[in-house]
Amino acid sequence: MLRLSVNIDHIATIRQARRGVEPDPIAAAVLAELAGADGIIMHLREDRRHIQDRDLRLARQVVRTKLNLEMAATDEMQHIALDVRPDIVTLVPEKREELTTEGGLEVFARMDSVKKFIGPIQDAGIPVSLFVDPDEQQISAAKKAGAAWVEIHTGAYANGKNDRERNEEFGKIVESALLAASLGLRVGAGHGLNYVNVKAVARIREVEELNIGHSIISRASLVGIERAVRDMIMAISN
Ligand code: PXP
Repeated sequence: MLRLSVNIDHIATIRQARRGVEPDPIAAAVLAELAGADGIIMHLREDRRHIQDRDLRLARQVVRTKLNLEMAATDEMQHIALDVRPDIVTLVPEKREELTTEGGLEVFARMDSVKKFIGPIQDAGIPVSLFVDPDEQQISAAKKAGAAWVEIHTGAYANGKNDRERNEEFGKIVESALLAASLGLRVGAGHGLNYVNVKAVARIREVEELNIGHSIISRASLVGIERAVRDMIMAISN
């Protein structure tokens, strides 16, 4: 069955708006799991704009499903990952000025450094996923770099302005998922998925897991987290 992991960064964004203690992303993680989420994702950014070190450490104790630490490939983050030991690490590019992760990781042109970076993490028993654009070259490079998973960036599909653009981008996601699976990579997908555009992606058989944040937390702000997660599980199940 297709699995859903919920990104709770936006709960921390609301908390940081007042630099206070609520809403607590750990409470959101617990409720998302109670509603059936298969995993919890948090992105510890270099600038700590939303998730804090305390959140990650508490989540490690509290999350019962699968804790996915999204992070940039820096020495500091590698050190934290090896110390906290999430169930999986997802490497993403990170720019200070961006509102959210914008593009996929450049794996093809930086193969040696990616390979060196993920080695110690996977040697410690933590699988690494590379967040890549739906691009053949990047998928093949992810395999060569030794990653266990790829997460296919669905942002261009989600942001397509018309059917033609969306169909074109969707085709790239399907091809990339097929290629990744044929290379023996495990396949996730995410970014920009909502209750409508998720349905087509949920039908791609090679995709094992969807990683969704913004649309669930947006809906949760109106209807509550448990209902929002349940609604998404309904949207992705046949
Ligand atoms: N996957 C990755 C690698 C991401 O960086 C993000 C955004 O933090 C998501 C999935 C979730 O994207 P969205 O919040 O648009 O659902």
